[in-house]
Amino acid sequence: MKVAIVGATGMVGNVMLQVLEERNFPLDELLLVASERSVGNKLKFKGKEIEVISIPSAIEKRPDIALFSAGGNTSLEWAPKFAEVGTTVIDNSSAWRMDLSKKLVVPEINAHTLTHTDKIIANPNCSTIQMVMALAPLHKKYKIKRIVVSTYQSVSGTGVKAVEQMENEIAGKKGEMAYPYPIHKNAIPHCDVFEDNGYTKEEMKLVNETQKILNDKTIAVTATAVRIPTAGGHSEAINVEFEEDFDLSEVRQLLSETDGVTLQDNLDVNLYPMPMYAHGKDDVFVGRIRRDGSQPNTLNLWVVSDNLRKGAATNTVQIAEYLIKNGLV
Ligand SMILES: NC(=O)c1ccc[n+]([C@@H]2O[C@H](COP(=O)([O-])OP(=O)(O)OC[C@H]3O[C@@H](n4cnc5c(N)ncnc54)[C@H](OP(=O)(O)O)[C@@H]3O)[C@@H](O)[C@H]2O)c1
Repeated sequence: MKVAIVGATGMVGNVMLQVLEERNFPLDELLLVASERSVGNKLKFKGKEIEVISIPSAIEKRPDIALFSAGGNTSLEWAPKFAEVGTTVIDNSSAWRMDLSKKLVVPEINAHTLTHTDKIIANPNCSTIQMVMALAPLHKKYKIKRIVVSTYQSVSGTGVKAVEQMENEIAGKKGEMAYPYPIHKNAIPHCDVFEDNGYTKEEMKLVNETQKILNDKTIAVTATAVRIPTAGGHSEAINVEFEEDFDLSEVRQLLSETDGVTLQDNLDVNLYPMPMYAHGKDDVFVGRIRRDGSQPNTLNLWVVSDNLRKGAATNTVQIAEYLIKNGLV
């Protein structure tokens, strides 16, 4: 099994290296790939140094799987070229997510739809992954009608430059800006670029990707995405209306039985999810579960997850593990 990480020097790429190592992913050779700027630099994997190579050199080596996290343009240009030499690409960017011929996969929900003909597989956006992880088991039981979600997103979701901006601001140093405003001591209601409808791309990803992953176009979703000065993970306040009524203890039971979800919901001991404690973990944490008294069949939840782990690297590696386990590569 020959695996390439394209974007290995970035925030997500770095976590992919950690996740592959921790999960003892079955590997014969690991190719670390980045832009020309980084070619020749060395990164550590399992105590050994591996030299960073260019994308064309990686394609020549015909890896079985390429885990991509190098931005949308790089994916659009290079993922098909890897696919042409027989590599299965799992892509973290938004390039292929809404392409009708590509699957958008959260393994716990829809990996069973994958076949050996899927040569480019899309990994959903980080804020979508954690939301659908919490909502999929509830959708199955009560059928979702409408979701109203507000996000409180970590700067690590923007990449290395944004984390540096926050650190510089905390230290009182001048530096390059990843955002149009300071992020330290601030909240910026602007994640990714604005679209013509007044929503940001990040907000529309929550709408469109949720419908695609849950395979249900009738689910209404509206979102407000906000960047806040945290680094450990994204948080989401989710208000969800179902077709059927629910019982709160049954909701808690369903979530506690869901693989990849950890229930943290005990007000007596102030137990609820927070990004500082989700950081470095693979699970999606759910708490503050309560009935919305303002309309029938409606629930409020607070959902937190490390955007670089389940929101990106871990989900990608889980897809790769599924492909191997099921003989699809
Ligand atoms: N951060 C998150 O929470 C998150 C979650 C889900 C998905 N994603 C997606 O994952 C991707 C990477 O995000 P990130 O946060 O890791 O960004 P990042 O820290 O800025 O890293 C970008 C990586 O891409 C490489 N790269 C850039 N241009 C390239 C090119 N032309 N050819 C080859 N490699 C190139 C960079 O290499 P150099 O170091 O050589 O520049 C670096 O390794 C993005 O598409 C992002 O939308 C991020």
